Amino acid sequence: TSLDPNSDTKSVKVETKWKFPRQRIVIEQLLGEGEFGRVLKAKAFNIAGKPGYSLVAVKTLKPDARKQDFYDLLSEYQLLKQVHHPHVIQLLGVCTHEDGPLYVIIEYASQGSLRNYLRKTRHIMTSDLRLLEDNPDHRVTPRDILSFARQIACGMSYLSDIKLVHRDLAARNILLSENRVCKISDFGLTRDIYEDNAYFKKSKGRVPVKWMAPESLADHLYTTKSDVWSYGILLWELVTLGATPYPGVQVENLYHLLKEGYRMEKPSNCATSLYALMKKCWNVRPDCRPSFLEIYDFLDNLLTDSI
Ligand code: ADE
Repeated sequence: TSLDPNSDTKSVKVETKWKFPRQRIVIEQLLGEGEFGRVLKAKAFNIAGKPGYSLVAVKTLKPDARKQDFYDLLSEYQLLKQVHHPHVIQLLGVCTHEDGPLYVIIEYASQGSLRNYLRKTRHIMTSDLRLLEDNPDHRVTPRDILSFARQIACGMSYLSDIKLVHRDLAARNILLSENRVCKISDFGLTRDIYEDNAYFKKSKGRVPVKWMAPESLADHLYTTKSDVWSYGILLWELVTLGATPYPGVQVENLYHLLKEGYRMEKPSNCATSLYALMKKCWNVRPDCRPSFLEIYDFLDNLLTDSI
């Protein structure tokens, strides 16, 4: 089911205001690769009203991409063009499928994913058991953790206001820009719109089970409130500097554990107030979970109090 460029050209509807000439892009290097596609670092000339060259990230497909991947990337564009917020990754332009591969051009976040960033700040144990603290300006304090959490809540509050459900909120999908500004990215998309039951079975391997609310696992129900559940897991990732949730738990067993009321315990270095917030996000009843605005206000107060 390899993509036929000719048969799909007509389905691409990109508004003129987002079209960007391919000749003004210089690809520099590969930033990341998934099963869906590739992210490339590039320079774009005179993009989004900025004169000269800007660093950008280009999302594109692998040569052997399937039709589905093409639709996924297109729907990511459809979502991104609606959003404009300091804590959500910004769309800059699109090179359509008419004269080459589909490119979705987004702002470049120089510090990469929050998960990798957090993991890099962990101390390194040398073979003679000395602790190596690498880069001093790479340190992450408890206050930084709260600040990251507040920024993400701010962006998610905006997305929930415009009725956009993310579906894949996790530290790996938060990007950090030059000044450590958090940018929500990699929208879980409208994946299921094209997804019949057969496809769901096929794609089950890439469902982020450990971030999913029980109702998403059981009934494929995705709402802002299931985003709030994932946000609680993301908080846990922040506090543990990028650990993988539910250590030692097999994903096959997770749903039953959650139904029995099992939740992750408080990480040893985690403030009681922050753990209480996680637990509220993990309420089995979606309507009992806090809103992103309530989460934002709570974190804002914590940050204000702890000056
Ligand atoms: N990796 C994935 N998307 C990226 C972006 N926009 N900037 C930097 N690295 C990325």
